[in-house]
Amino acid sequence: MIYLKTEEEIELLRENNILVSKTLAEVGRHIKPGVTTKQLDRIIEDFIRSNGATPAFLGYQGYPASACISINEQVVHGIPSDNIVIKEGDIVSVDVGTFMKGFVGDSAYTFAVGEVSAEARQLMEVTKEALYRGTAQAKAGNRVGDISAAVQDYAESFGYGVVRELEGHGLGRKMHEEPGVPNYGLRGRGPLLKEGMVICIEPMITMGTRAVVFERDGWTVRTRDRKPAAHYEFAVAIRKDGPDVLTDFSIIENSLG
Ligand code: MF3
Ligand code: CO
Repeated sequence: MIYLKTEEEIELLRENNILVSKTLAEVGRHIKPGVTTKQLDRIIEDFIRSNGATPAFLGYQGYPASACISINEQVVHGIPSDNIVIKEGDIVSVDVGTFMKGFVGDSAYTFAVGEVSAEARQLMEVTKEALYRGTAQAKAGNRVGDISAAVQDYAESFGYGVVRELEGHGLGRKMHEEPGVPNYGLRGRGPLLKEGMVICIEPMITMGTRAVVFERDGWTVRTRDRKPAAHYEFAVAIRKDGPDVLTDFSIIENSLG
């Protein structure tokens, strides 16, 4: 069942996703060589709580942290750890969720640590652009497949892999609502997009093979060939006249300078 949101509900989802954007901006300032992903998780949890929300990921299906922090070949759902230390040249995907006023925020951003390779830089840029191309299709009257195909076609035109095993989703009072939003598919197929739907679009794009491995910690997803992956996610409300993006990456990018 797909829940259509009222204007008031969309504004509460926006409040949550703006808080997620601010949290990502805050953690972005701390992503430096030598810091552990556990330290970053603590910064994220403190920031969310001091802004009157709770971390939506903590305890979700038993998940043990407030954020997912996935480095290089880790695609998504990396568990923060005292033993994982950020180093120069890493690309670090941070996925954050909030719960406040009955609704959820959920967005992700991939950060470069210092100077990263030209290949990694391009992977990040293409993944973010794939998200924007998918988002441009997020309007009433289109179908989920229009979003999926736009993401896939753009990423694959660079020879990159599109991860099949995970997908975007509806967002509301629950973190994962219908419909699923795959990052691959066919134009004109899938559920019809209607005004008031709110979805998360979240391309997970790999430099090499699209095949992934689920690690034995029960969470971490990494590329099979151990080449890097990037992940960006934002929440979008479907409007008659086009997408209404509820996450604000400019908050993150302005803080990176
Ligand atoms: N942000 C992820 C998603 O979009 C959810 C993280 S999984 C969790 O599906 F368990 F950490 F919450
Ligand atoms: Co999500």
